[in-house]
Amino acid sequence: MLELVDVHKVYRVGTFGTGTVHAVRGVSFDVQPGEVVSLIGESGSGKSTIGRMVLRLANATSGSIRFDGTDVVSLRHRGLRDYYRHAQGVFQDPFSSYNPIFKVDRTFETLRRSYFPQDTGAAWDERVADAVHSVGLVPGEVLGKFPHQLSGGQLQRLLVARALLLDLRLLVADEIISMLDASTRIDVLNLLGDLKARGLGILFVTHDLSLGNYVSDKVVILHQGRVVERGPTAAVFADPRHPYTRTLLASVPQLDRRWEDVEAEEERRSAALGDECLYHARVDGADAHDLGLVEVAPGHLVGCFRDGADDACPGVRAPVAG
Ligand SMILES: Nc1ncnc2c1ncn2[C@@H]1O[C@H](COP(=O)(O)OP(=O)(O)O)[C@@H](O)[C@H]1O
Ligand SMILES: [Mg+2]
Repeated sequence: MLELVDVHKVYRVGTFGTGTVHAVRGVSFDVQPGEVVSLIGESGSGKSTIGRMVLRLANATSGSIRFDGTDVVSLRHRGLRDYYRHAQGVFQDPFSSYNPIFKVDRTFETLRRSYFPQDTGAAWDERVADAVHSVGLVPGEVLGKFPHQLSGGQLQRLLVARALLLDLRLLVADEIISMLDASTRIDVLNLLGDLKARGLGILFVTHDLSLGNYVSDKVVILHQGRVVERGPTAAVFADPRHPYTRTLLASVPQLDRRWEDVEAEEERRSAALGDECLYHARVDGADAHDLGLVEVAPGHLVGCFRDGADDACPGVRAPVAG
């Protein structure tokens, strides 16, 4: 459904646009219907930039982003509007998606005006109420309120409800859990589960590895703008191969295990795998992927071990001038 191939993003920075930040480097992965894909990495690793490029809120410098085979990068006007019927985003700070001086209902009204100008009156109100209901909210308790009268979790669920009025197929959820308190977190995670059951594809952006584990079918581990490892969640978490993934996993507190045991296991694993870059080891071999990744198990891909983006494998493509 959604497919990214060798996507790069170079930001121009500085007063005269003379500096550059190569925020996303040759990223490839896909999201299928009914699948939750977690994009995991520390702050600054390029996660939001990827989400924004998928939603065309930022332009990719090079590479391809396709939705059902259609090139998202080249969409204009009507094509883009149609794309937004199927692809929507919800972001970390829900307050920023609302105008504080208007009631939250206005966000439904703007959607109606641009996508369903014919639909008015009671029938439309009923559709809105249904959508609000389906995200676990009581319409009478949230509609007619100003943003500051609602919680972050309620505002976020309303944004999902709004997206559901469209023919939604792909949801980009960028750190939507981070700002919520523990009790609402579970509600929002369960909501994502419901959406997945309806056949939606979800790109779940998070810096929190344990959340990625909880919700997703596949994970994409991002480090300094590069995919260092990706694959089925169970496979990557049970058998992490890239040193960066292993570090991330080792830093997740595990309540049922003592720290010494975790450390000892990680040492055993490192000793068994060695520190040799899998990609370098096979870069001349037949099974080295042209995207700078090596397949270690079905669908489980691992990137170059060299740290620092400027010291990547020869197979990892060079920055594209932008
Ligand atoms: N609009 C922008 N202009 C210049 N640099 C940016 C812009 N947005 C993000 N960056 C830079 O790109 C890198 C990746 O940022 P981002 O995609 O926000 O990462 P994440 O969401 O993983 O924290 C960072 O170094 C950030 O400073
Ligand atoms: Mg971000």
